[in-house]
Amino acid sequence: MLASALGDGMKVLLFGPDGQVGRALRAALPAISDVVVAGRDRADFATPGALAAIVAAERPDVVINAAAYTAVDKAETEPELASRVNAEAPAELAEAATEIGARFVHYSTDYVFDGTKPAPYEEADATAPLSVYGRTKRDGERGVEQAGGNYLVFRTSWVHAPGGNNFIAKMLKLAAERDELRVIDDQIGAPTSASLIAEVTVEALGASALPSGVYHLTASGETTWNGYARFAIGEAMRRGLVMRATPEHVLPVPTSAFPTPARRPLNSRLSTGKLQAALGIEMPDWRQGVLATLEATIGERVG
Ligand SMILES: NC(=O)c1ccc[n+]([C@@H]2O[C@H](COP(=O)([O-])OP(=O)(O)OC[C@H]3O[C@@H](n4cnc5c(N)ncnc54)[C@H](OP(=O)(O)O)[C@@H]3O)[C@@H](O)[C@H]2O)c1
Repeated sequence: MLASALGDGMKVLLFGPDGQVGRALRAALPAISDVVVAGRDRADFATPGALAAIVAAERPDVVINAAAYTAVDKAETEPELASRVNAEAPAELAEAATEIGARFVHYSTDYVFDGTKPAPYEEADATAPLSVYGRTKRDGERGVEQAGGNYLVFRTSWVHAPGGNNFIAKMLKLAAERDELRVIDDQIGAPTSASLIAEVTVEALGASALPSGVYHLTASGETTWNGYARFAIGEAMRRGLVMRATPEHVLPVPTSAFPTPARRPLNSRLSTGKLQAALGIEMPDWRQGVLATLEATIGERVG
């Protein structure tokens, strides 16, 4: 249905195809489009200036940028590189997309906010990043907007996906090795699966009337990192994994117990009402996505 809404032969040019969201997009996009990927070998965001030529050569209908400098703590000591990747490169891509009349899709983060609001953040709330990563992502949003084309910026949070060293895999490993864990319980947010982000992106591309702008895209509900860890460990045990640290052994500690170079917002909750109303969809509870990633992670460990 989506394919017919978009017309046959829609071409998507995907940057950052190998990250969590990029991999999920590679799985979801072929249902609605021809996908050309431009990975780090072809498109190095550290040297913007060469990216526009790729867009001009490919002439896609849609450009999607899933690449980003996501090493939040390391960014504090590499602000120039983080800025090139998260701000300059997306602006260049958005301008190149505008030039050929292509739609531009970009992802941003809850870290553009300082987390002091006592309620979920709305899209129009003032940004006030606490970290280099957050500032460079905020600058990226502005660059995309200033390109003046047809664009969608999806702000998301606490992204997880099968493969690699995700939070869920880390917690399962630690719980198997240790008698107790100490996990932060004063940061609130919604763990969001990369596949949900990809599915909603596909949905949004099918909705040609969706106005340009920033949209919050997270799973529904909320938890803390501690609640997230307890849930993952409990569900892993229900699936037969043997743990030394059970959910009761996941002790709550404040953020101050683990000093990090970058400050993180205590409130990462993003209100998704705008996107849900625009697309007529309901975001699933965060536990649903965590269970899918958990099961894939257990499969990877067994397989
Ligand atoms: N992860 C989260 O919890 C989270 C939360 C909120 C928002 N977001 C946003 O969601 C989007 C997707 O994040 P993600 O979780 O999928 O991130 P990810 O897994 O870290 O993937 C980022 C991708 O960008 C690529 N990349 C980094 N530097 C590059 C460069 N100089 N040139 C070309 N490619 C480069 C990486 O390549 P390599 O693998 O080669 O390094 C990686 O494939 C990003 O915009 C991120 O800011 C993420």
